[in-house]
Amino acid sequence: MKKKVLSVALSAAMVASLGAVTTVQAEDDLIVVGYAQVGAESDWRTANTESFKSTFTEENGYKLIFDDAQQKQENQIKAIRSFIQQDVDYIVVAPVVETGWETVLEEAAEAGIPVILSDRMMQVTDDSLYECWVGGNFVKEGEDAGTWLAGYLEEQGRGEEDINLVTIQGTIGASAQVGRTEGFGNILAQHENWNMLDMQSGEFTQAKGQEVMESFLKSYDDIDVVVCENDNEAFGAIDAIKAAGKTCGPEGDIIVISFDAVSAAFDAMIAGDLNAAFECNPLHGPRVAEIIQKLEAGEEVEKIQYVDEAYFDTSMDLEAIKAERLY
Ligand code: AHR
Repeated sequence: MKKKVLSVALSAAMVASLGAVTTVQAEDDLIVVGYAQVGAESDWRTANTESFKSTFTEENGYKLIFDDAQQKQENQIKAIRSFIQQDVDYIVVAPVVETGWETVLEEAAEAGIPVILSDRMMQVTDDSLYECWVGGNFVKEGEDAGTWLAGYLEEQGRGEEDINLVTIQGTIGASAQVGRTEGFGNILAQHENWNMLDMQSGEFTQAKGQEVMESFLKSYDDIDVVVCENDNEAFGAIDAIKAAGKTCGPEGDIIVISFDAVSAAFDAMIAGDLNAAFECNPLHGPRVAEIIQKLEAGEEVEKIQYVDEAYFDTSMDLEAIKAERLY
C-alpha cells in the first residue's frame, strides 16, 4: 500500500511565522482521490457524481480530482494515466466498458496506487490489479425485471398470451448492459410465449432511447413490452410512443420497464407512463470513502461488494416512497 509522505517538514517556528504555511500542511494531509467517471449521460450518473463530490470534500479530509470521460474508454484511460502522474493516493474508476483495462491497471500497480472499482465492473485476468468493487448486481436487476413482468402479465390474465418485446440496451459492453441483458434473458428463456423482436443500444441516454424506440415502432406494429436498460432511455421511449399516437403504462398499449429508479422515474410512474423501475443505487461516494478509510487503517476489504436494491411499480404508494428518497 502506498503511504502518504509529507513533502515539507516544518519547524514550529516556521509555522508560527508563516500563517499561510499552516494551510499548505493541512492540504498535504488530505487523501487525494482521482475519480474517473463515465460521463453525464443520465440522471443516475448525475446523482453518482454528486455523491462523490459531496463525500470527497476537504472538510472530510479529501482532495477529489474528478474527470468526466464523456462515455469514452480512451478518455478514462487518459484520466487514469494523469492521476498516476499526479501521484494520487487512490484511483476510483467507474469503467465505461468491462474489457481493455489490463495495461493501465498495471501502470497504476507499478506506481503503487490502489485502484477501487465502483458501479460497473472490469474483466481482468488478474483481479489483484484492483482492490475491490462496489456496485449494483446487474444480472439480478435484469432477473428481477423479468420475474416482475411474468407476475404482472399473470395478474392481467395474459400469462399464456404471445407477448412481443423489444429492448433498448445500454452502452454495449458496459457491465450494466451486459448484466441486465443477461438477467432479463434468463427469465425470457423460461417463457416460450415471450418473443424478443429486437434489441438495440440507446447508449443510456434519453435522446438515443427515443431514436431507437421510434425505429422499433416503425418496424413493428405489435410491441407489447419495451425493456429500457435505464430510466433516461425509458423517458425517450415514452416520448416516442406518445408521438406515434400510442399509449403506455398500466392503462396503455405498451408496458414500459426501466432500471435505476431515479426521481423522474417516480414521476413517470405516478403520471401512468412507466410501469416499473428496478433500482440501481448511485450513492457510492460514502461506500468508497468507507473502503478507503479501511485501507488507510490497514484493514482487509471485501473484494466484491453488492449493494441492496429494490424495485417500484404503480401498485405502490409512490408519492410516499419518493418523498423518502435521495435521488
Ligand atoms: O452503470 C449504471 C448505469 O449507468 C445506470 O443504469 C445508467 O443510468 C448509467 O448511465
